[in-house]
Amino acid sequence: MNEQLLKITEEALAKIDACKDLDMLNDVRVEYLGKKGHITAAMKEMKNIPPEERPAFGQMVNVARDKVEAALEAEKTKLQRALREEKLKSEVIDVTLPAKKAKVGHGHPCQIALDEVERIFVGMGYDVVEGPEIEWQEYNFTKLNIPEGHPARDEQDTFYINDEILLRSQTSPVQARVMEQGKLPIRMIAPGRVFRSDSIDATHSPSFHQIEGLVVDKHITMTDLKGTLDEFAKELFGPETKTRFRPHHFPFTEPSAEVDVSCFKCGGKGCRFCKGEGWIEILGCGMVHPHVLEMCGIDPEKYTGFAFGVGLERIALLKYEIDDMRLLYENDQRFLNQF
Ligand code: DAH
Repeated sequence: MNEQLLKITEEALAKIDACKDLDMLNDVRVEYLGKKGHITAAMKEMKNIPPEERPAFGQMVNVARDKVEAALEAEKTKLQRALREEKLKSEVIDVTLPAKKAKVGHGHPCQIALDEVERIFVGMGYDVVEGPEIEWQEYNFTKLNIPEGHPARDEQDTFYINDEILLRSQTSPVQARVMEQGKLPIRMIAPGRVFRSDSIDATHSPSFHQIEGLVVDKHITMTDLKGTLDEFAKELFGPETKTRFRPHHFPFTEPSAEVDVSCFKCGGKGCRFCKGEGWIEILGCGMVHPHVLEMCGIDPEKYTGFAFGVGLERIALLKYEIDDMRLLYENDQRFLNQF
């Protein structure tokens, strides 16, 4: 082999051998086999060599190139293997360490209370239905016998999107929606979120939840209403619970009532929990107003019905003896995990 070529080859092999990583190895490849590399330059020398010596010279250059290429390849494999081994060593997994515990979620007290209410009414043959949170004022008010200018609109002051559309202030519009579908008899509850422009305090929030109830059939009377809600109260607060119906006014029911349950803490004697009353108010109800039935396409001469509306948060607060509604919205796990 040509002296100089021999020197270049040996130099290359020594450099390859001294490479510590793949970057260095690549630099050596470029230095010898790259476009301007030493071996590539030797190839270009060909034209300065007498024609009869060219084949022999060409062969020498090929041999030199093959040697360097083979050495580069071998070194590359060696370095890659070393790299892999190092990685394996640094990424050792200690299979004896305790596993990370998967955190299992927990039902929110409102959700637990809702499940309980749904269980009770589904057990009595009710359907659970939902309605939109963004509602026509027509359904939220007019069809519930609350015409424009009626003071009840102010009492439930809410968030208007425009003159016609608002965030529903009660779940009662679901009544009108279900009645309009015309499938009778009706036996349903409608849980859902409602909105009022109230400031936040221990008993108020601009967004809370209600559960609406509605039964429409032939021969439904006030005794059905009283029996149903009495049974509901006993299921929810315990078999000793008594109910008391006080006359009240709601525009969409006639007659209307507010319902109290006997205090489940003191049994009705009067305590701090019931503020000495012995009774705790839990919901509003009444016989569906004939005018509401009519507006929703039901003949009030043939059908009658009862309705009720209960605050979900109120039930959760009472059932779990929580004294501040705000706790329900803070998502503090220390609080939520207690239920
Ligand atoms: N929608 C009423 C409110 O938000 C609650 C209510 C009272 C619903 C009586 C009813 C009912 O269906 O009959 O204050």
